[in-house]
Amino acid sequence: MTTPQRSADPAAAARRELVLREAVRRRLLDPEDALLAAFVDLDGVAASVAALRAAFPSSLDVLHTFAAKANCLVPLLSRLRELGMGCEVASPGEFAQALAAGFDPARTVLDSPAKTRRELTAALDLGVAVNVDNWQELERIDVLVGTGTPRSRIGVRVNPQIGGGSIGAMSTATATSKFGIALADEGNAERLVEAFRERPWLTWIHVHVGSQGCPLDLLAAGVAQAVAFAERVNEELGRRQVVGIDLGGGLPVNFADDTTAPTFAEYVERLREHTPELFGGRYRLATEFGRSLLAKNGFTAAYVEYTKTAGGRRIAVTHAGAQVATRTVFMPRAWPLRITAHHPSGAAKDGAPVPQDVAGPCCFAGDLVATGRALPLLEPGDLVALLDTGAYYATTHFQYNSLPEPAVHGFTVDPAGAVRFEPLRRAQRVDELLRPVDGPSTEETPPHR
Ligand SMILES: Cc1ncc(COP(=O)(O)O)c(C=O)c1O
Repeated sequence: MTTPQRSADPAAAARRELVLREAVRRRLLDPEDALLAAFVDLDGVAASVAALRAAFPSSLDVLHTFAAKANCLVPLLSRLRELGMGCEVASPGEFAQALAAGFDPARTVLDSPAKTRRELTAALDLGVAVNVDNWQELERIDVLVGTGTPRSRIGVRVNPQIGGGSIGAMSTATATSKFGIALADEGNAERLVEAFRERPWLTWIHVHVGSQGCPLDLLAAGVAQAVAFAERVNEELGRRQVVGIDLGGGLPVNFADDTTAPTFAEYVERLREHTPELFGGRYRLATEFGRSLLAKNGFTAAYVEYTKTAGGRRIAVTHAGAQVATRTVFMPRAWPLRITAHHPSGAAKDGAPVPQDVAGPCCFAGDLVATGRALPLLEPGDLVALLDTGAYYATTHFQYNSLPEPAVHGFTVDPAGAVRFEPLRRAQRVDELLRPVDGPSTEETPPHR
């Protein structure tokens, strides 16, 4: 994290500055009452969804789902639904959030790696699509389906075992990954062909190679393996039983500057090179992008509470740390973030850059969102903005030190430059952190509810 960040695109920087100034003016950021808040550019989200849809030929039947884990706020999910997206969910909580956001179950995909019987039953009752992760889950579904025909479309997640990208923890297609059925393990491919033969209701193949850090060719090679396997099933069964391919998500995001790279269109080009069969109209498709739709459409702003020096290093202690930038704090090399410095008014600071550690409020030494970052000198009362944090940051809160969840504000900017905010999540109050103590006894509360 010692590499200096590249300069920002002036238009994008001006838009963020405008929004920050307005947020301060309307006290959505306040040095006493709103020390930290996250912002989501709803115009930007709509543009990202439009780019995704335009990247695939209109002749294809594609269900684009949003991976709720990337930003699970119900009003945001609802907005994505209005933009024509479906939803991919991977836990009972996300499942409930998708339903609350009004997604049609038929446009919802359940991918939890540890689906309970209750979760599976609910999905099959509602007609939510299910991607089966493993042999034991398949047996559970056998029991639930019985001799009937499920309303849900059911697929199997395969692990093409083609290797990982630059972030091991985010690479799901390694030889030993916990996800899916390991296609290259001895006997698995043959066993899976038979599983399809015995279950006419098994009609989709799902693959997700990784989330951030996977080059396009690796993603596309994983999809190619999944399609090759679908072709094999259909050939060996002598019928076109596999009718759909779920490509997963994983388009990497550029955290170095304001450029969106790679683009959805570039990925689709690469898919076309690796797997022309995907574009021939013989398969229905589904996608599950998360980070690439939201990351660059969000930023997180926090006040600087104190500044100090230690051992010759300048340190700014801010209110944004591991609770909202968990991956960045614990894996700084894998998840560096751009940071901008602002006056208390929200206006950008333009002083000479000085190396500074940007620390968070958590009570452990490693709670740093940047080390030795060259920024205009920060002073108490200033604001810092953590850029590209629209996905997997403020909405995947880490409750260290009982720090409350910050508010998340959606915003739009009209052509005349008027900023409109809309609440996506209000800030958690400290008294709400006490609530579990006052809650009903465990006898009264069924588990996992
Ligand atoms: C099965 C599945 N689909 C989609 C995604 C979304 O990935 P990304 O946000 O990188 O697009 C993930 C992320 O972990 C995932 O596990």
